[in-house]
Amino acid sequence: MPVIVNHDSHLFDVAGQRDLIIERAKGFECWDVAGNRYLDFMSGHGVMNLGHGRREIVQAVAQQAQSLTHMGSAFEHPERTRLAQRLIGLTGMQGGRVFLSNSGTESVEAALKFARHHTGRSEMIGFIRGFHGRTYGALSAGFNPRHRKGIGSLLPDCRHLPFGDVAALRRTISDQTAAVILELVQGEGGVRIAEPGFINAVQDLCRRHGTLLIIDEVQTGFGRCGQPFAFQVFGVQPDILCLAKALGGGFPLGATVFRSDIQPVRGLHGSTFGGNLVSCAAAHGFLDLFEREFEDLEVAEKGAHLAESLRAMSRVTEVRQMGLMIGADVPCQASLLLQYLQNDGLLAISAGPQTLRFLPPLTISWDGLNEGIRILRRTLD
Ligand SMILES: Cc1ncc(COP(=O)(O)O)c(C=O)c1O
Repeated sequence: MPVIVNHDSHLFDVAGQRDLIIERAKGFECWDVAGNRYLDFMSGHGVMNLGHGRREIVQAVAQQAQSLTHMGSAFEHPERTRLAQRLIGLTGMQGGRVFLSNSGTESVEAALKFARHHTGRSEMIGFIRGFHGRTYGALSAGFNPRHRKGIGSLLPDCRHLPFGDVAALRRTISDQTAAVILELVQGEGGVRIAEPGFINAVQDLCRRHGTLLIIDEVQTGFGRCGQPFAFQVFGVQPDILCLAKALGGGFPLGATVFRSDIQPVRGLHGSTFGGNLVSCAAAHGFLDLFEREFEDLEVAEKGAHLAESLRAMSRVTEVRQMGLMIGADVPCQASLLLQYLQNDGLLAISAGPQTLRFLPPLTISWDGLNEGIRILRRTLD
């Protein structure tokens, strides 16, 4: 049954409307207002890593909302403090500290500001196809020219180098470089996976020049790439780590985790809603589940199975995969195929004009995954 969408809405169309109203979701399944069922192969843009409607998160949120919804950050709250502790424990960034915000782009803004403040330098290096969010600082660090058009000047002193080009980095980095910022798997930029040798060289060059390494794990974090964090897959150590998306269990929350000797002064940065208590409660619910379930989720195996299946489909020209973060290049407009897939009951997103991106909940069952593969075959084979 078709779903009627109001095209005269006063809402600014941020993402391009998909002509679909999703009413409810559970696990890896969603239903629209007409009762049609869809498999969720996008997790709400990489947010719902442990699936929709998890009871533990819902209960934690309800409980917190009933006792105290919001209290300014000048008032310490044990759950906020405990969240910072948990993030330090989970990331292994011992002695480090955490700035809580509301989103990925804010976690990046804080990282850039802290890096410039700590080093007393202003130059920054990002990478071609990098994406870090849409506020001015994050846009300056990111690359997509489409996102920067017609909005005036961005931060000065930001250079963008080819992703993977060690020689270019060696030529560009200097004792004036405050930070190098990168995603270990470029998400928006096409699901492009860094070479381990490149990442090791980035780390070495940063150390040699006293430059901070900012790793943006807004999309790759919390199990998406087969380990709790992608930096653990690569065996590197960020000086500053940007987190968001999955962390809030569906609620808005960002976190910038930084090394102990980076000491932003009070007042340098802040946020009214950052670390909102309901979002923190949701994060605790999410982390409780994550710590309990992650080991058994078979993220690497499921990801490899989906990638192998995609590689065998005749309309797929290349597949790039790490864990359950998968990009599949197609020889036509990805948006068209996404519409076909949606009509056939599968929700996915793109990562560039000719790349399909699949980010199913890590909790998807093998049956659910295989059902999705059958739908994909009907459109892509
Ligand atoms: C790697 C990365 N960094 C930052 C962001 C921005 O996050 P948000 O949309 O929460 O501001 C995104 C969003 O997709 C992202 O993928």
